[in-house]
Amino acid sequence: MAADFAALEYLPTAVVVLDEHAVVRFANQATESLLGAAARSLVGQAFLPLFEADAALEKALADTLVTHWDYSAQNVSYLRPGREPLPLACVLTRIDAPDMPLLAELRPIEQQLRQAREERLVGEQQANRELIRNLAHEIKNPLGGLRGSAQLLERELDRPELREYTQVIIQEADRLQTLLDRLLTPHRPPRVGPLVIHEVLERVRSLVLAEFVRGVAIECDYDPSLPDLVGDKEQLIQAVLNVVRNAAQAITGGGRPGSITLRTRALRQVTLLRQRHRLALELQVIDDGPGVPQDIRDRIFNPLVSGRDGGSGLGLSLAQTFIHYHRGVIECDSRPGRTVFRIVLPLA
Ligand SMILES: Nc1ncnc2c1ncn2[C@@H]1O[C@H](COP(=O)(O)OP(=O)(O)O)[C@@H](O)[C@H]1O
Ligand SMILES: [Mg+2]
Repeated sequence: MAADFAALEYLPTAVVVLDEHAVVRFANQATESLLGAAARSLVGQAFLPLFEADAALEKALADTLVTHWDYSAQNVSYLRPGREPLPLACVLTRIDAPDMPLLAELRPIEQQLRQAREERLVGEQQANRELIRNLAHEIKNPLGGLRGSAQLLERELDRPELREYTQVIIQEADRLQTLLDRLLTPHRPPRVGPLVIHEVLERVRSLVLAEFVRGVAIECDYDPSLPDLVGDKEQLIQAVLNVVRNAAQAITGGGRPGSITLRTRALRQVTLLRQRHRLALELQVIDDGPGVPQDIRDRIFNPLVSGRDGGSGLGLSLAQTFIHYHRGVIECDSRPGRTVFRIVLPLA
């Protein structure tokens, strides 16, 4: 039977042939490597249940069987036991093979796009940070000169009421100095050792609950089977604290009580910053606050981007720097009522 489709065997694209009942009759080698499943195990299986329930795919399948058009479902999720679902694009084509009228082409489009986007963002952010560091460095020296001169000038002033002006210069120089120092992080070499992520989360939880006494609840949904992580505990506390504190601020700023969920899970076979890892830890910080303001959504990890009065815009930038030190990624998905910050860190 499969011999009929020998020509498809060596196509670089993953191709599956279905019979009129939408049962898999053939899967080529590219399908095996894309899905990580042996062709043997796919053949004989109904096509639809291989994916997360998806109305578009179901309709495309039914339509292709009656009409002779091609149909595509842009975003279907192939279910893999013990792993995160694999996002795919699926194109269905009607063919003329006897009893096997359907050809399904599968492509990992979403994943590729997402990976490319992730890499581009990381590159941009590194360039950004570099620029800001250099700038901060260049401003520090003349600033010291300004402050010192104002001090000298102050000593020479014979009318005390003029000191008001030199004091403004000195105080503003100090304020700038503090800002520049914060821009010039990271401050110390990392101290790496084995650590338990849930200890990090419990620390953050108690710190944030102490700071936000009213209106914010923090729920924990931990996977207790997660192995130890190797990393810098203080850095991770700082990174997660910045994220959770933002969530608490967003909630209290919204004027209604709300809750934050800290969720941990294990992920298998993930690619982070181009590197493949057998096992990774996923941490989600979920809040039901008003969401990240639309106009800054794409830029919140950049330094100096803030949507709050009095915000420095450095919290997420620093969090990202620390997560990247750990070869992990941090991303955000936000709409009013549900904001998710997702941190993925390689394990082992
Ligand atoms: N959970 C969240 N909900 C809504 N907005 C958020 C959330 N987390 C971050 N933000 C937005 O991202 C901005 C940048 O955060 P951050 O880098 O920590 O700087 P800062 O907190 O100093 O403003 C915040 O000012 C806020 O507008
Ligand atoms: Mg912040």
